[in-house]
Amino acid sequence: MALKIFRKKHVRTHADSDDSLHRCLTAWDLTLLGIGAIIGTGIFVLTGIAAATQAGPAVILSFVIAGTACAFAALSYAELSSAIGGCGSAYGYTYAAFGELFAFIIGWNLLLEYGIAVAAVANGWSGYFCHGLADLGFPLPEMFTKAPKLGGLINLPASMIILLLMALLIIGVKQSAKANNAMVFVKLITIAFFICVALFNVNPANWHPFMPFGWFETLPNGKTTGVLAGASLVFFAYVGFDAVSTAAEEAKNPQRDLPIGIITSLAFCTLVYILVAGLLTGVVPYTDLNVSSPVAHALSLLGFTWASALISTGVIAGLTTVMLVLYYGLTRIIFAMSRDGLLSAFFSKINPNTQTPIRVIVICGLIMSLIAGLMPLGDLAELVNIGTLSAFAFVCLGVIVLRVTHPDMPRPFRSPFSPLFPVLGMLSCSGLMVFLPALTWLRFIVWMIIGLIVYFTYSIHHSELSENQ
Ligand code: ALA
Repeated sequence: MALKIFRKKHVRTHADSDDSLHRCLTAWDLTLLGIGAIIGTGIFVLTGIAAATQAGPAVILSFVIAGTACAFAALSYAELSSAIGGCGSAYGYTYAAFGELFAFIIGWNLLLEYGIAVAAVANGWSGYFCHGLADLGFPLPEMFTKAPKLGGLINLPASMIILLLMALLIIGVKQSAKANNAMVFVKLITIAFFICVALFNVNPANWHPFMPFGWFETLPNGKTTGVLAGASLVFFAYVGFDAVSTAAEEAKNPQRDLPIGIITSLAFCTLVYILVAGLLTGVVPYTDLNVSSPVAHALSLLGFTWASALISTGVIAGLTTVMLVLYYGLTRIIFAMSRDGLLSAFFSKINPNTQTPIRVIVICGLIMSLIAGLMPLGDLAELVNIGTLSAFAFVCLGVIVLRVTHPDMPRPFRSPFSPLFPVLGMLSCSGLMVFLPALTWLRFIVWMIIGLIVYFTYSIHHSELSENQ
């Protein structure tokens, strides 16, 4: 048994990756894929909530802390993605570094990260969409726009947008990347617009008191507050840069372009976040920001009501790209796990016409559409963070382990100051996990137990590596 759970996959370089997926993505596509996945609900919705309830204007520090943890993780991702082939991202790296059981656990956590994130962002999307429709004079009945827990029947727009993206992903990757690129530009113009307007309306008095909630505190109701709790919430804003590495088998020149895509997209988004967080808390008092559309709301408070509709349109486009890229990443991770025998082979069949894994796209789409329709945003976001942080910590550890076990493996990109930076990445990601609420931990543990049952009843017996033992 011990032999089986620790069996490792031989390290596949990009050269010996299989070519069943179509290689069509450039460094530019990959960077936009990253930005598409990164900028979304985190900056457009959670910044306001974190500022109002957890960090005050010091939410800017929350962004710096979460961004620093991600930067360490991103350098590790860049090293491993430039060296190791396969579209499974952290899952694939863990398979090579730590063996099958850990790989399965990380893959399982990535399913949680990506799948729940798509459903969570669909909820945010639906909020802006319904708001926009109501502004145009076409309000939807509440029972079709809210999850049962919030007094509705189903959040229909949230479900529908996922089904629409499902159709887009079935058509093919290049088409999806094109749609993604166009929407990323709309999203960036929206943010640039906000920055331009806000720059001329800052009132420095709004930055006082700067840190009204201190560093960290657990409240009697179990909720957490303070700059560090804010960091573990706004971490959600950075989720997605890792999705670039799931495109390894569809990148034209993965060794060079994956590190470029990962690092450029994260660096760009970090700067944007710090700027937006600083401006948002500078233009209105942080206490006014606990709303579902804080960026548009802040502009309304400044008297730019006409800008609200414009911002909402941009946000709708922005959130669409996040869902598209994370959905894409999810299907590729399942595809990789299935090809390795850890999930049923049923999922890894590629459709010869579209060259996409249609089955897995459809099954994921239906499940996520159901979750998005029936569960509210709040219940979903922190669950995403805990799964992601655990995967990031493993990737950092993987860099250290593989440098020892595979010192001669070609590494077109090397994380600087190894092992210091990877160690700092592990510590900062694990640290952020500690600041998440107990209920999130409980849900995470339940998910892990289900995963272990799947592994020991199915995966261990069907693994591709079984025949080689
Ligand atoms: N980073 C993505 C967002 O903020 C998941 O929506």
